[in-house]
Amino acid sequence: MAKDVIIALDFPTREETLAFLDQFPAGEKPFVKIGMELFYAEGPQIVRDIKARGHKIFLDLKLHDIPNTVKRAMNVLSRLDVDMVNLHAAGASEMMKGALEGLTRPDGTCKPGSGRPLLIAVTQLTSTDAAALKNELLSDVPMAETVMSYAKNAADSGLDGVVCSPLEAALVKEKCGENFVTVTPGIRFADSAVGDQKRIMTPEKAGKSGCDYIVVGRPITQAEDPVAAYRRAVRDFLGQ
Ligand code: C5P
Repeated sequence: MAKDVIIALDFPTREETLAFLDQFPAGEKPFVKIGMELFYAEGPQIVRDIKARGHKIFLDLKLHDIPNTVKRAMNVLSRLDVDMVNLHAAGASEMMKGALEGLTRPDGTCKPGSGRPLLIAVTQLTSTDAAALKNELLSDVPMAETVMSYAKNAADSGLDGVVCSPLEAALVKEKCGENFVTVTPGIRFADSAVGDQKRIMTPEKAGKSGCDYIVVGRPITQAEDPVAAYRRAVRDFLGQ
């Protein structure tokens, strides 16, 4: 299975994003994540431009709507030729299956399973704590059980994997199969600032803990030397 480091491009503008990417030498094209902030600020053209520069792209828009709407939206996003997209598992299996049906490649020829973008589910947001789960989402099921049940539901719906904490990756693989992809944020070097992340792991440990893709933002984007920080993350994660 492919393993890679994905840089979270959490920048507010096109200028800042491209200035960041320009620091990398011409032949080095990291896998990058484009989230809501950049996508809503700059629109789909920023995705096309970064793709044209040769990067693989995880488009992190976390879709959640009725099945037909998500299916059609995924079909539109397929035209951007991205490599990974996501949705909320809370939308339930019909929505997840609809999303799969909508995903193709830009020429519309690729059927699910033959080269379409990887479809990844968000289980419970890491910002939802046990109190919110109980008092606002009205569930008495413990968080860990909820996360694993959502992951299993995503796997049973045909999705490729989940976004999860690196601490959950091994258990997700155990429940959903070795080939079920784990995409894990919450990565910090042993000597980098933790910031607002709570459940963290180093790239090296993540590499040995069932994580297929690690998503790394500030430890690379805010580093004094982002290219060196990226290479360090790759080296540590892949054990090279
Ligand atoms: O800067 P940092 O490494 O914390 O960035 C992590 C990235 O992963 C951010 O883009 C954040 O939105 C995203 N993410 C996360 N936790 C989740 C889901 C996504 O940190 N549960």
